[in-house]
Amino acid sequence: MEKIIDENKQGEQLILEAKPENTRKLFIESYGCQMNFSDSEIVASILANNGYNTTQNLEEADLVLVNTCSIRDKAEQTVRKRLEKYNAVKKINPTMKIGVLGCMAERLKSKFLEEEKMVDLVVGPDAYKDLPNLLEEVDEGRNAVNVILSKDETYGDIAPVRLNSNGVTAFVSITRGCDNMCTFCVVPFTRGRERSRDPQSILDEIKDLWQRGFKEITLLGQNVDSYLYYGGGLKKDYEKASDIQKATAVNFSQLLDACATQFPKMRFRFSTSNPQDMTLDVIESMAKHHNICNYIHLPVQSGSNRILKAMNRQHTREEYFELIDNIKLRIPDCGISQDMITGFPTETEEDHQDTLSLMEHVKYDFGFMFAYSERPGTLAERKMEDDIPEETKKRRLQEIIDLQREHSYFRTQQHLGKIEEVLVEKSSKKSEAHWSGRNSQNTVVVFPKEHYKPGDFVNVKITNCTSATLIGEAVGYSNMNN
Ligand code: SAH
Ligand code: F3S
Repeated sequence: MEKIIDENKQGEQLILEAKPENTRKLFIESYGCQMNFSDSEIVASILANNGYNTTQNLEEADLVLVNTCSIRDKAEQTVRKRLEKYNAVKKINPTMKIGVLGCMAERLKSKFLEEEKMVDLVVGPDAYKDLPNLLEEVDEGRNAVNVILSKDETYGDIAPVRLNSNGVTAFVSITRGCDNMCTFCVVPFTRGRERSRDPQSILDEIKDLWQRGFKEITLLGQNVDSYLYYGGGLKKDYEKASDIQKATAVNFSQLLDACATQFPKMRFRFSTSNPQDMTLDVIESMAKHHNICNYIHLPVQSGSNRILKAMNRQHTREEYFELIDNIKLRIPDCGISQDMITGFPTETEEDHQDTLSLMEHVKYDFGFMFAYSERPGTLAERKMEDDIPEETKKRRLQEIIDLQREHSYFRTQQHLGKIEEVLVEKSSKKSEAHWSGRNSQNTVVVFPKEHYKPGDFVNVKITNCTSATLIGEAVGYSNMNN
């Protein structure tokens, strides 16, 4: 079934093993994208070395941090409700300090401190290494802010702790920021310019995870296809790099090759791809290595050329189809998922029909679908009126959700009767007697546990399905297991 991120749900609280020498308690909660969850691991790692153990009990916390999301208005409203809750607890426990991390910190800067007096600390996505200093300020009774965006911060030198980990799958960030400037999107403003992390530090982190028993890595970035490491610095300054830097630069397909070759029994995924930046050599790398999953999250946002242009997406519908054709030509069973926005300014019924017909052409495995939410500071907010009535946005959203459900079911049915390699992650939510894992295409597969355990790669014969889940029976270990 389609996966819609529920922005009303409480954020995930993150905990890790306590260090006996630490005396303070940190309650850290994350909202939004995977990058935020991954950043919270970096933050917890920094604070674990500065006296803080994590707690799941808000009432006993000395420090409450919320890693925030600005992508849609609803996400911000959810965080505001949480801040009210923390402030209510602070009335009972006045020594407790409250801090805002992430995209809202960057977007609203010191507004939280000055006008709203809701927090003690505001720290943007590039300033987490400054947290120990900022906390000293807070301890001395001053409010503290650092929202400076960086040219080269990638946290490559921090070994993140793994919070709430299943011990099998982990995220490793490879780029930060985004230079694409889609006109609806706040990310380039909150996360700054794009920069890539040193490949050696990525490989070192993966090695450490491998040694600790992890079996699947998702390489993370706002726009992974744009990965380019030439010794550090912003992507946009690459042209100014020296000849030596250019000759030794590493792009995304080369990074994928290096990961897959150096860790042949580790499985790799990546997210997010951008149609305008995805190149054929990435598809070639995927096709070449069994341990790179056949799955691409390839957001398109709209099926209308006019809307794509207004969104500053640098490709047409036809170019997108060409890319999909190239993917399916080299990797016929590749799973593909989408992000879609309904009700972008000026979107007509005809544009909406173009979105439905694009979906009909691709038949995505699943998708993340949203009604347009105007974001302050973006080009769309400054230059275009948010003119599509809320009911129309919602009706169109429901139509694409319904169509996606049909397509998801069509896709899951294609797996019936096949034997697929599944990495076991955890017990199925619905049944303790079943394992839950994912196949290469990122579809959830459940099957009876027998003697298998989390971390095993198991060949599973698919016998039944819903629109979201494949159901099957194990036929033996896969050779990824040896
Ligand atoms: N490249 C990014 C995209 C970040 S935003 C990534 O790593 O996923 C995730 C999705 O949120 C976008 O693809 C888009 O579909 C949606 N989105 C972004 N801004 C939005 C807005 N203003 N209103 C509604 N949806 C939005
Ligand atoms: Fe946002 Fe477009 Fe970048 S959706 S994260 S500006 S690719």
